[in-house]
Amino acid sequence: MSSIILAIESSCDDTSAAVLRDRKVLSNVVASQIVHRQYGGVVPEIASRAHDELIWFVVEDAITQAQVNKNDLDAIACTRGPGLLGSLLVGYTFSKALAYALGIPLIDVHHMQAHVLAHFLDDPLPDFPFICLTVSGGHTQLVLVEEPMKMQVIGKSLDDAAGEAFDKGGKLMNLPYPAGPQIDRLAKKGKPIFPLAKPQINGLDFSFSGLKTSFLYFLRDSLKVNPQFIEENLEDLCASLQFRIVDILIEKLILASLLRGIKEIAIAGGVAANSAFRQTLIEEAKRQNWKVHIPKMEYCTDNAAMIGIVGYYKFRQKLYAEPDARPEARLRWEAEIR
Ligand code: KG4
Ligand code: ZN
Repeated sequence: MSSIILAIESSCDDTSAAVLRDRKVLSNVVASQIVHRQYGGVVPEIASRAHDELIWFVVEDAITQAQVNKNDLDAIACTRGPGLLGSLLVGYTFSKALAYALGIPLIDVHHMQAHVLAHFLDDPLPDFPFICLTVSGGHTQLVLVEEPMKMQVIGKSLDDAAGEAFDKGGKLMNLPYPAGPQIDRLAKKGKPIFPLAKPQINGLDFSFSGLKTSFLYFLRDSLKVNPQFIEENLEDLCASLQFRIVDILIEKLILASLLRGIKEIAIAGGVAANSAFRQTLIEEAKRQNWKVHIPKMEYCTDNAAMIGIVGYYKFRQKLYAEPDARPEARLRWEAEIR
């Protein structure tokens, strides 16, 4: 059964719409809200207003670029959570109304499942079972994937997410939000010469708050001696912070692979766009004999194509939204992934 699905993502500060014909992406439009930069983080109320202003244009653009007609659509897939409630409400209400007007089903999508299934947008597809480390601004999760619709979280962050460690560390160095991509760029010219704390967390869970605190104290002590310390050492500071974050991520991936006896490894989410993380993973894969899957850059950070691929799998199983379903900021994994 072939399908044309319109997908909508609005969980945080990217307004995005995509059209997929089966697994093929016909369009994937992302409008990133730069308005938040001046505040040093995403302001929820401003995000929902910006989604409201952008959504219709983004959807129209996605449909036009895909060269389809609204009446060709078989279903609409939309992020139901987790995310910012106001932002989710804009995308979800829009999707529900459009699906109703067109007389087609609405499909709920769990944002974190979408990051994992972004791997199914392109060939070669990962073999099952595989382990996916999803690292975004709000989550750090090790996911054991047995089938597209069967996956479980086997490890997660107990406090900050890896993306938050980049963003909060960047804020301490006075870098604008989101700091992750800039730290990536600056670190290329620096060396990881400053030793930063490594958390000792047993098992497959992560912790990044200790690293942030150790970075804060290190900067504070260094600034007492030299008030220009950050400006004079910015590239090495970025390289040191990035080195430690990547080190923590790779160490847990190795442990997960050993414990589960799985050598099919994938990464996903915004932090998977980090060049040092991608490079270190490729090098570690040679040592560990892993087969690794790294998504295209545009499918790492938030985008609607990844929502569409979940829509594709759910549509085939007729897993449609309940008529009274609502978006949920803390949508549980079990609520959507069966
Ligand atoms: O998945 P995503 O786009 O949104 C969420 O669902 O959170 O991830 C955003 C996160 C931010 O913390 C951002 O700083 C980080 O991904 N990020 C990066 C890079 N690109 C995005 N972190 C490090 N290096 C990058 N190149
Ligand atoms: Zn995300």
